[in-house]
Amino acid sequence: MKLQHIIESQQFTLPMLNELFSLADQMGSIVIRGGTLDYQHKIMASLFYEPSTRTRFSFESAMLRLGGKIMSTERAQDFSSVSYGESLEDTIRVVGNYADVIVLRHNQIGGVKRAAAISTTPIINAGDGKGGQHPTQALLDLFTIYKEIKTIDGVKVALVGNLLDGRTVRSLAYLLGKYERVKIYFVAPPTLQMKQDILDYLNRHNVWYTLESDFNKILPEVDVVYMTRIEEEKIPAASIERPFKRYFIDEEVMRLMQSNAILMHPLPRLNEISPIIDADPRAAYFRQTKNGVLIRMALLVSVLD
Ligand code: CP
Repeated sequence: MKLQHIIESQQFTLPMLNELFSLADQMGSIVIRGGTLDYQHKIMASLFYEPSTRTRFSFESAMLRLGGKIMSTERAQDFSSVSYGESLEDTIRVVGNYADVIVLRHNQIGGVKRAAAISTTPIINAGDGKGGQHPTQALLDLFTIYKEIKTIDGVKVALVGNLLDGRTVRSLAYLLGKYERVKIYFVAPPTLQMKQDILDYLNRHNVWYTLESDFNKILPEVDVVYMTRIEEEKIPAASIERPFKRYFIDEEVMRLMQSNAILMHPLPRLNEISPIIDADPRAAYFRQTKNGVLIRMALLVSVLD
């Protein structure tokens, strides 16, 4: 599979996803063997306009395990010529002359698409703007479901939290919509529900979904509970909807979940999941981060080969 740029989830077809997962499985074997030197002459630039722990480090880990080299700025606004007002396009043209692939997290929706439009060097979207997309996170999420539940067709997934602004849930909804008989439960207070553009996409593709706010009602029904961060400061103080307390997983709430269901979270978590749950075998969020390196190795190979 040869990819030019990785911009949004919609660009992946089912055959591409199957190939990507097979490649990620092969990457697992490479990591166990101690990595490879196959990409030792390749350079990856990670250009981040927003903070990141997982995406930046897992891409850098992926590139290092492939034998490649990395250049990195974790605060492009402050530590690059962006601070003098250089345009995104100029920055990309220049960095593209220094690297073989650019992993870009941008603070504006569509920023990564703009970069790809003028770049001959492959661009990978590491998250763009509030409410944009985060396709590589969604791919590792889907890979985690595939590994843990063993099938994606027919899976029932609850996406929980701030769905209005969350880019991971938007990208994941697009990907889930490609599979047969999938059921998606969007669980959020009405003011933070999934935007209409995603619902329109699911309608066009005849994907079953429901909009819910009652978390406890949905938990026993689903195979996957995908929590997202609810930044409490975004919820009006006077609002009776403050969902922070309602969408919280502790031992009592875990009892409502099926014994073979999994609990996912793109992380970082704030207060959505009690740390006491980490020891429960259904807590898949740290296994998710490990899968992130394998998927990102596979994606790098797909743009570099
Ligand atoms: N899941 C995720 O995107 O985490 P970071 O913001 O730490 O990269």
